[in-house]
Amino acid sequence: MSKDKMYELLEKKIDALRKKDKGDEERKTYDEVFDRHALLSIYKLMCDGIIDTIDYPISTGKEGNVFKGSTPEKNNIAIKIYRVSTATFRNLSKYVIGDPRFKGLHKNYRKLIHTWARKEFRNLKRMREGGVSVPTPFSCHNNVLVMEYIGDDVSPSPMLKDAHVEDAKKMFRQVVNNTKKIYKTGLVHGDLSEYNILVKENKPVIIDVAQAVTLEHFSAEDWLKRDVKNVARYFRKRGVEVKEDDLLKRIIGG
Ligand SMILES: Nc1ncnc2c1ncn2[C@@H]1O[C@H](COP(=O)(O)OP(=O)(O)O)[C@@H](O)[C@H]1O
Ligand SMILES: [Mg+2]
Repeated sequence: MSKDKMYELLEKKIDALRKKDKGDEERKTYDEVFDRHALLSIYKLMCDGIIDTIDYPISTGKEGNVFKGSTPEKNNIAIKIYRVSTATFRNLSKYVIGDPRFKGLHKNYRKLIHTWARKEFRNLKRMREGGVSVPTPFSCHNNVLVMEYIGDDVSPSPMLKDAHVEDAKKMFRQVVNNTKKIYKTGLVHGDLSEYNILVKENKPVIIDVAQAVTLEHFSAEDWLKRDVKNVARYFRKRGVEVKEDDLLKRIIGG
């Protein structure tokens, strides 16, 4: 099938989605995210049997959007589509520079954003293999990342900041354990907080790992300290006694 034909077919699919939409805000999201380039990437993932449907947006962020979708086998998936824009580019370059895995990166911002999506894919994979509770990454093509959907058929799991936490101490221990495991894989999350932890069945699931860097990165230590600070601040508010120094030692000490 020619590329034009592929594109035409896909646009029909997305158009149907667009019309199904109600609000103007939501429609804007679709128009912004589904540019020709993203459509082709999604089409490729559809041809590969990774995506069947894109159902609704879960989140619309500064740098991208996350949608709930499904596979041809009717399993739920989360689809994260990074926005290709100069603003995103400026925000992201600081994270990729200094990470030896991404040496010699092109100045081209579209390419950088593809690298960024791939970086999240690889970080998820590495963490998953290290036993960290993260969504299993399924596939990544250009600026589209497909991963395990965290939630149930009714709704996606809430962020820790909005979740009902029965046992804050236990949740704290689980978060610390995961942070330790991340460190053991040789990475630092770099944006860990109650916003990037989902709570499913009373257990934390760490998300948003594109910015995670290897321990050699010149900011790794600072970012680890910042992660620790965020976690400590949140759990202190929930009545857990936390000393930042001890927490840092626990994470580094293994
Ligand atoms: N795998 C997932 N399953 C369910 N919801 C998700 C998943 N990944 C992300 N989300 C939702 O999308 C939001 C944004 O995702 P995130 O990766 O944090 O991107 P960003 O903060 O850069 O926009 C999250 O707060 C969460 O609510
Ligand atoms: Mg986030």
